[in-house]
Amino acid sequence: MLADPGFGKYFTDHMVSIEWTSDEGWHDASVVPYGPIVLDPAASVFHYAQEIFEGVKAYRHADGSIWTFRPDANGRRLQRSAARLALPELAVDDFVESLKQIVRVDQHWVPSAPETSLYLRPFMIATESFLGVRAAHRVGYFVIASPAGAYFTGGVEPVSIWLSTTYSRAGKGGTGAAKTGGNYAASLLPQEEAYQHGCSQVLFLDSVDTTYIEELGGMNVVFVKKDGTIVTPESDSILEGITRDSILQLAEDRGHTVERRRVSLDEWRDGVASGDIVEVFACGTAAVVVPIAELKGDGLSIVSPVAGPDSLTLSLRAELTDIQYGRRPDPHNWLTRLDA
Ligand code: PLP
Ligand code: COI
Repeated sequence: MLADPGFGKYFTDHMVSIEWTSDEGWHDASVVPYGPIVLDPAASVFHYAQEIFEGVKAYRHADGSIWTFRPDANGRRLQRSAARLALPELAVDDFVESLKQIVRVDQHWVPSAPETSLYLRPFMIATESFLGVRAAHRVGYFVIASPAGAYFTGGVEPVSIWLSTTYSRAGKGGTGAAKTGGNYAASLLPQEEAYQHGCSQVLFLDSVDTTYIEELGGMNVVFVKKDGTIVTPESDSILEGITRDSILQLAEDRGHTVERRRVSLDEWRDGVASGDIVEVFACGTAAVVVPIAELKGDGLSIVSPVAGPDSLTLSLRAELTDIQYGRRPDPHNWLTRLDA
């Protein structure tokens, strides 16, 4: 189980639970045995999907200590998601403390094999029994944990991506920038289409012009140009990835110019055809960084150059994971110790 954990299949012995009510605010923080959450069938999360979550990893370093990566950024993102979903905000310090609590009690679950981690899944749900459509007055926050290896079965092997032209993930003014279950529910059918076409993730375009690249079902997209410039989509309907932000920071540290702007599908196609785009990769907490080999769609195939061992993609991936696993210095103070 710890030697080959896969992703999201096994869960540790405990979970964190914190209650919120509109009268009392946050209260009753506890670490309890992992197990079913008993809810009334009328709990509003079941009906109106008032729910948000985060994804964070705990990494075991060579000396046995356990660390996490930029948890304050995840805590702030959970607050932004909460604001959009009309859920109560949890203080960032309490968020970070909740990660420490679960890791301390379940630390023997943090694997030590290369490239493994303990994936932490904080989430918040509307637990009030009420069928009226309004923000719930009773909410629960939980953290569960699951030992994790590679998200894709091929590890860092380049993946193929399916372009969804029928479905959007998020609309203008919608919840695309929040980490909320409904965005993932919207991605499941196109994700099935992706599997049917032999692809491991689905790519969404913007829902207004269906012209600009947004993101994958669960990862951001980044392009590397021949002159070393790095380009990534900017949009108010995508999730601002912390992995992407970190990778771009590391690239800037190396002197690369980073452009956060709209990127059209045509720019991708033409850039690969002319040789101006030399690498394309996807990134996120679960899958870290994976090269994109091909974008497929109805009558479309954009085959990216192969990301070799000397590629910027794999070198930035190595730099990021070296920091996360304590194998090189942490110049931006991104690591927080969880077990002490
Ligand atoms: N986009 C989506 C839709 C995601 O689910 C994720 C994963 O969390 C990301 C992007 C990448 O975000 P992060 O790097 O913070 O994990
Ligand atoms: C993560 O990378 O943490 C995510 O939430 C992606 C997820 C869909 C597994």
